[in-house]
Amino acid sequence: MTSPLLSITSLSKSVPGGRVLFRGLDLALAPGEFVAVTGESGVGKSTLLNLVAGLDLPDSGTVTFDGVALGDLGEDGRTRLRRDRIGFVFQAFHVLPHLSLAQNVSLPLMLQRRPAREAADQGRRMLDLVGLGDRGDDYPNQLSGGELQRVAIARALVHRPALILADEPTGNLDAETAARVLDLFAAHVREAGAATLLVTHSKVAAACADRTVKLTPAGLVGNDAG
Ligand SMILES: Nc1ncnc2c1ncn2[C@@H]1O[C@H](COP(=O)(O)OP(=O)(O)O)[C@@H](O)[C@H]1O
Ligand SMILES: [Mg+2]
Repeated sequence: MTSPLLSITSLSKSVPGGRVLFRGLDLALAPGEFVAVTGESGVGKSTLLNLVAGLDLPDSGTVTFDGVALGDLGEDGRTRLRRDRIGFVFQAFHVLPHLSLAQNVSLPLMLQRRPAREAADQGRRMLDLVGLGDRGDDYPNQLSGGELQRVAIARALVHRPALILADEPTGNLDAETAARVLDLFAAHVREAGAATLLVTHSKVAAACADRTVKLTPAGLVGNDAG
């Protein structure tokens, strides 16, 4: 492939109790590539995304983003990388309760110190795209799980990140909304040349991807192109 945006090399991780989740994982993502990750509950999919985002560190092995190993970046460097280059849709949303929906979605742009007006406009536009355009002044406690998930998705895309990490982003959505959200992902990947790692149990979601890999205790299965 062309030089990868993301390379995972010989990645190993065990849980605090000592149980090995995975050992020697390899995976590479080209810019603009959309890869779905499936696998049984508890196998380590969320852990893998956290490692890729530098929110957690592996026992051994490396995650390299755009030629730079996350382990060499230091905590501040990893925080900046997440802020500027990565969009993360967390499985548990992590929408901030004291901010309005519009403020939640424009937060990545505010953290980048973009002009407040531009951040607000882009935030509203993203909310509109996920079908919540008239809810910008509402607060998270007024929302259903599916609505919170769409806010989390809008926030992950608003700063046009080079890499999108999405942890079961359609798990709480009805089929129609899920299809719209997946279209959004696919459009973003195409337009921005963003790479996407999408953890999902949904066959529909996996079908949107360029390829699908399955995380098992024995490693990644179906990783031919990686
Ligand atoms: N902080 C932790 N301490 C102990 N075990 C953990 C911790 N975090 C995750 N685990 C365990 O690691 C395994 C993988 O978790 P996770 O990555 O969330 O799996 P998945 O997303 O595939 O369902 C699970 O068995 C979970 O119980
Ligand atoms: Mg998970």
